[in-house]
Amino acid sequence: MIQIAIDGPSGAGKSTIAKAVAKRLNYLYVDTGALYRAIGWAALTRGIDYHNADVVAPMLPKISVDLVYENGVQKVILDGEDVSEQIRLPESSMAASGISALPCVRQYLLDTQREIANKNNVLMDGRDIGTVVLPNAQVKIFLTASAEIRAKRRLIELQEKGISSTYQEVLDDMIKRDYNDSHRAIAPLKQAEDAVLVDTSELDLEQSIEAVYRCIINKVNSLEG
Ligand code: DC
Repeated sequence: MIQIAIDGPSGAGKSTIAKAVAKRLNYLYVDTGALYRAIGWAALTRGIDYHNADVVAPMLPKISVDLVYENGVQKVILDGEDVSEQIRLPESSMAASGISALPCVRQYLLDTQREIANKNNVLMDGRDIGTVVLPNAQVKIFLTASAEIRAKRRLIELQEKGISSTYQEVLDDMIKRDYNDSHRAIAPLKQAEDAVLVDTSELDLEQSIEAVYRCIINKVNSLEG
């Protein structure tokens, strides 16, 4: 099986780019952030403090989180219910960022992620895929862009979904999440030593897709000799 790991901060365009590249390669696209978001959403709807491992840990065995694919589109199922839309709300983003710092949550999701990668050719995106989840992935990419560019892109995305927010709110949120994600004690966001850096600040979507696709093809070709 071929494993491709794409890591990077939120708003770098990872999911859009990874989805498009996976389709081109005919690989399964796995958005691991959606798993953390689903757990964050589970805590939110139960009124559970998502920073507190003492209350989050007992919740984990009582919930079920699955990824299913309908016509190639990933859906997130929490306790049998499709929560793919709810997990995109800004409050779910914050809950996911908070809850993903808890070791019990990371451990809980590790097997789920590895099982999927062992059964399929995958292009998996997240924060610690190349460093922790799939350390032996054949291709590793660290995808990033400046915080200001990422905030601008995220604002447009939210507006398209009818979610109201301001540029400053989105930027502050982005900087806070970057800090949380890269400073947590366990599996922090960082570039794997053997990852290729792709910065999309100056690239449009098509150019970013092409850059990532080329990077993968070159690496896979060099592996095949
Ligand atoms: O990629 P995203 O914005 O949907 O991720 C939501 C949150 O989950 C983000 O704050 C970081 C966390 N996350 C993580 O810690 N590890 C991953 N592999 C994926 C996401």
